[in-house]
Amino acid sequence: MNSPNLSILVLYYSRHGSTRTMAELLAQGIESVAGCDALLRTVPAISTVTEATEPEIPTQGAPYVELQDLTDCAGLAFGSPTRFGNMASPLKYFWDGTSAQWLGGALAGKPACVFTSTGSLHGGQESTLLTMMMPLLHHGMMILGLPYTHPELMTTSSGGTPYGASHWSGLNGKHPISDDSRTLTIALGRRLAETAQKMRSR
Ligand SMILES: Cc1cc2nc3c(=O)[nH]c(=O)nc-3n(C[C@H](O)[C@H](O)[C@H](O)COP(=O)(O)O)c2cc1C
Repeated sequence: MNSPNLSILVLYYSRHGSTRTMAELLAQGIESVAGCDALLRTVPAISTVTEATEPEIPTQGAPYVELQDLTDCAGLAFGSPTRFGNMASPLKYFWDGTSAQWLGGALAGKPACVFTSTGSLHGGQESTLLTMMMPLLHHGMMILGLPYTHPELMTTSSGGTPYGASHWSGLNGKHPISDDSRTLTIALGRRLAETAQKMRSR
């Protein structure tokens, strides 16, 4: 009997599209591995005005993540714009609602990676990537970075780090993703999917 494809969750938030572009490249890398599907999901924006609510179904882009997606996925790519050197609050808010999944070990032992987009080149790509790993580690995930066997890690002048994929979107947020950063982002998705495959076959 054929086993079903592995579903890898690509969970991201994006206000202006840069992180979404990266999520789509991660998905491309994931789906370059036979037997792996990427499930793109986002979270609603949050507001300091507590009366503000988002529609139940987003008007455009990926659907909102459901807690069951954490249980069902074979791995997770987690992406956020950099906000003051850290992940965006809608994503932090999402993690703060995952106590039941933490207690139940929904993500424990599964592979994960992180990605981000910044407005300025030295505006916190690495601090964001590293701190985005914290909730994943608390959930028991096995974090993957990028090895220096990728020569682009030495040549990039925009984004792409050993801690995860990154993109420099510029002051106007419209810089196209550089060739090096694109290659590294796809490679990270591929590495995540290959690892999930290996872990399934053990
Ligand atoms: C509230 C806020 C805080 C931000 N903080 C940073 C920052 O610390 N460093 C940086 O380089 N860019 C920062 N930016 C810029 C975003 O990280 C950048 O525009 C990113 O590419 C947006 O991603 P998106 O297009 O997926 O929304 C910030 C933007 C906002 C709105």
